[in-house]
Amino acid sequence: MREQDVRYVEEIERVSFTMAWAGRTFQSLLRRMDAECWVAEDDQGRLLGYAVAWWALDQAELANIAVRADARGRGIGGQLLDRVLESMKARGMREIFLEVRRSNNVAAAMYRRRDFVEVGIRKNYYDLPREDALVLRKQLN
Ligand SMILES: CC(C)(COP(=O)(O)OP(=O)(O)OC[C@H]1O[C@@H](n2cnc3c(N)ncnc32)[C@H](O)[C@@H]1OP(=O)(O)O)[C@@H](O)C(=O)NCCC(=O)NCCS
Repeated sequence: MREQDVRYVEEIERVSFTMAWAGRTFQSLLRRMDAECWVAEDDQGRLLGYAVAWWALDQAELANIAVRADARGRGIGGQLLDRVLESMKARGMREIFLEVRRSNNVAAAMYRRRDFVEVGIRKNYYDLPREDALVLRKQLN
C-alpha cells in the first residue's frame, strides 16, 4: 500500500465495516516500522482489496483485511491473507492472531481453511451492532 492508495482503501473500508478506520489511520500505519500494509490490484492497477498486519516480538496480528464488495468470492481475500502469512513467517513470527465478528461466517471460513483455531472470545468487543469477537490464532513456525 502506498499513500496514494489510501483514498481507495478508505472507500472499501467504509462499505465493509460499520466501525471503519479513518484514512489517517492507514496513513500513519504506512509510516510505522512494526506494521505492513498490502493492496491487491487488478491488471489495470485498480484497487481490489487490502490487508494490514502488525507485530510485537514474535507475535503478529492481522489487523484488517477487506475486498471491494463487487470483487468478493474470487479468491482475492484468500490471496491477500496468504501473502500476509508468508510475510509474517519471513519476519520470524511464531504465531498470528486476529479477531473476527462471531457472525462473520465468510471470513471465519477463510481463516479456518488456513488452520486458524479459536483460542478465545472477547465479549461485546464490537459495536454497531454489539457483538462478540472470536479470537483466532495460527502457528507460523
Ligand atoms: C472476508 C473477505 C476479505 C474475503 O474476501 P474474498 O475475496 O471474498 O475471499 P475469497 O474469494 O478469497 O474466499 C476466501 C475464503 O472465504 C470463503 N468464502 C468466500 N466467499 C464465501 C461465501 N460466499 N460463503 C462462504 N464462504 C465463502 C471460502 O472459504 C474461501 O475459501 P478459499 O480461500 O479456500 O477459497 C471479504 O468477504 C470482505 O471484504 N468482507 C468484509 C470485510 C471483512 O469481513 N473482513 C474480515 C474481518 S475479520
